[in-house]
Amino acid sequence: MTKNVIMFIGPAGCGKSTLVYAYSSWLVKEFGASVFKVNLDTAAEYIPYEPDFDVSFYINAHRIAKEFGLGPNGALVKSMDMLAENTRIIEKAIGDANADFILVDTPGQMEVFIFRDVAPKIVEVFKRMANNVLALFILDAGVIKRVEDYVFTSIMSVALQARLGIDVVPVINKIDVYPNLELIGDVISDVDIVTEKLRNSGLYGEMLSKVMDVIWLYSKATRVPRVSAKNMQGLEELHRIVHELTCSCGDLT
Ligand code: GTP
Repeated sequence: MTKNVIMFIGPAGCGKSTLVYAYSSWLVKEFGASVFKVNLDTAAEYIPYEPDFDVSFYINAHRIAKEFGLGPNGALVKSMDMLAENTRIIEKAIGDANADFILVDTPGQMEVFIFRDVAPKIVEVFKRMANNVLALFILDAGVIKRVEDYVFTSIMSVALQARLGIDVVPVINKIDVYPNLELIGDVISDVDIVTEKLRNSGLYGEMLSKVMDVIWLYSKATRVPRVSAKNMQGLEELHRIVHELTCSCGDLT
């Protein structure tokens, strides 16, 4: 069976868990797909879906805080380091998962996950056990206000790609709150608009436009899906990109 692991990564409150719920429900409804949902947030208090594997059952940041007398950040860091040392619990969970899609919700504090050993180690486990591994880098639509923010999103996705060694698709969530969001779109012309605006905004803008040119030249997914996890909007477009990346269908432009 083809196992596709899709990791949901993004800053606190961007809607990772809600999108795991929305996308898993959508996959089941549209294709009758089997979906295995993994929670890797050791500090999760409320999870809007029923996880098939919940790491906080084994490694729990709140318990660690009490046990070691740590504050919330210290406990989270310790829990992530413990997880990095115990990836076999994930290996076992994924090995037992009989599913087309394995959706992985990651900790709210993205930096603790990404900047320590834990994320690359877990990705290695996924790569050994699944046919395809990719990540969605989710950002709140409210972050995207200027063309430079668009560049920020693209650079962050590339940085994650470099750190994790897997394809990373930037996703803009909560578009129901910002229905008139400009500039971010699923057509290449949006990129042309962005680079043109950057080019005309001084030396710094010129540098960013060149960075964008290179990113888009080498990027596999040149579309940025806009979704609302809350209203189940944009999931078809999101899935199209996920499908193209996981089925090796070729050109995504
Ligand atoms: P942490 O892991 O705790 O950092 O959060 P998260 O990234 O998993 O976000 P979560 O799914 O918990 O959502 C955070 C808040 O944003 C919740 O109140 C959600 O209801 C809300 N939210 C998530 N997606 C959307 C969306 O598409 N639209 C709107 N309006 N709210 C959303």
